[in-house]
Amino acid sequence: NPKNQPHRTAYHFQPPKNWMNDPNGPMYYKGIYHLFYQYNPYSAVWGNISWGHSISYNLVDWIHIEQAINPTEPYDINGCWSGSASILPGGNPVILYTGSDFRNRQVQNIAVPKNLSDPYLREWIKSDHNPLMTPMNGIDPQFFRDPTTAWEGPDKIWRVVVGSQIKGHGTALLYQSRDFVNWTRSHRPLHFSNKTAMWECPDFYPVSVDGINGLDTSVQDTGTKHVLKASFNDRDYYIIGTYEPETDTFSVNPDFMDSNVKLRYDYGIFYASKTFYDSAKRRRILWGWVLEADGEPDDINKGWSGLQSLPRSIFLDKTGKQLSQWPIEEIETLRRKEVNLQNKEIKGGTMFEITGITASQADIEVSFHLPNLDEVELMHPEWLDPQFLCSEKNAATGGVIGPFGILALASKDLTEHTAVFFRVFRGHDNYVVLMCSDQNRSSLREEVKKSTFGAFVDVDPVEMISLRSLIDHSIIESFGGEGKTCITARVYPKLAIGNESHVYVFNNGTESIRISNLSAWSMKRAQIFPLHKRRKPE
Ligand code: FRU
Repeated sequence: NPKNQPHRTAYHFQPPKNWMNDPNGPMYYKGIYHLFYQYNPYSAVWGNISWGHSISYNLVDWIHIEQAINPTEPYDINGCWSGSASILPGGNPVILYTGSDFRNRQVQNIAVPKNLSDPYLREWIKSDHNPLMTPMNGIDPQFFRDPTTAWEGPDKIWRVVVGSQIKGHGTALLYQSRDFVNWTRSHRPLHFSNKTAMWECPDFYPVSVDGINGLDTSVQDTGTKHVLKASFNDRDYYIIGTYEPETDTFSVNPDFMDSNVKLRYDYGIFYASKTFYDSAKRRRILWGWVLEADGEPDDINKGWSGLQSLPRSIFLDKTGKQLSQWPIEEIETLRRKEVNLQNKEIKGGTMFEITGITASQADIEVSFHLPNLDEVELMHPEWLDPQFLCSEKNAATGGVIGPFGILALASKDLTEHTAVFFRVFRGHDNYVVLMCSDQNRSSLREEVKKSTFGAFVDVDPVEMISLRSLIDHSIIESFGGEGKTCITARVYPKLAIGNESHVYVFNNGTESIRISNLSAWSMKRAQIFPLHKRRKPE
């Protein structure tokens, strides 16, 4: 009942109830998308971890089916933790996952579908060879988990990476196998960093240097770069480099946590993500876990905790220096009742409401033009931390070029609102665009975490600055600069719920700005149900 559950989402992936964390083993197999996820079947807090399983024909509507993997064996009795799917030659899917064993050691296991002619792949069998990889030779049994999707080298040998911490350093351990059962640890890890500790949920995949098409995980040629993602410090960081399968070397510059350049998939709440190759539409798709920012007692009260982000296409940006992301196009099938306006000036210090849409369940795209950058404020060389800058210079702090953007999940009197906005500065030899998502005034409820997130956007403000925000009751996913900078926030309004929720466009700078185009849509509810509760599609 949405009345009692004002913060439950309408088009984000959620199980019917209970705890969910990492996305696991996403794959496309014979016309069906599979999503598995870390799931507690018994309550809204972490524990009893098994693999929840849902399937979809369009990545928007989902059918929940029974758990695929449960803790039943000595090698996974304390939890079936994160892992990945790989599709072997001949098209057979397999899952590698981490078991927390009877001694609470982390080991890697394999499971395969019981019946390949079942289109849903409901039942998975664990191999008698489990565990396949155990913590030996200096691997700490507490720091050995989350195997990646496998890739095959030109030598026909399979490789996977397992997340670890060796001598205090985040490490991507490399394993090799010819038959997917016998795995040997390579003498050198694929990569490590002495600037970070444990790496959870590593992901390693090729991206094309020209165009936005995705590549299957084993593709390696001169037209590819490779991405290594690791999850640490509650964030998903990535680096882009060159991979040579002959020697299994991965060369990067800059590396993780190198000064200033700290690339993240998302500068808000987004963790333990995983990509997969969608062979149907030749794209690489990213899923990420979006945690609650509500207190644990509230999670228990609501009966659920955790969302998945919208699935996003992910590709190398034209500059080659970073990745860009965009919600998969299928999400647009939920749009209805378009509101559109063009060529509208917003004078400094003014705002207006976007009316005619369901503001608590909406998709909004705006492109801003900045007619006059002459008076732009100077960027201080010491302003290195964009998140700090966003809290120092919030939406209420007037500037010259900005702050401008939207106030989402806002109550009519604006006591509650989340500000997603930009501010432009003149740097040493270029303009600097700051993007913020400020939850500081998002809820009158005190127990809710109200963070301020921020990041720079590598766009030229002389041309255009675009913003797309997808609002879904308790989540706002924002994409700045056509997906160059993404910020996901969780919001739990007290007043701005359901029809009491509004959305505004504001400009708190002194200079006028111009909206060249604004399109906003109400979003339909996606059909996300257990098999027995399926309704006819709307
Ligand atoms: C990341 C993580 C993984 C682990 C899983 C357990 O959120 O800690 O490293 O496999 O969650 O649920």
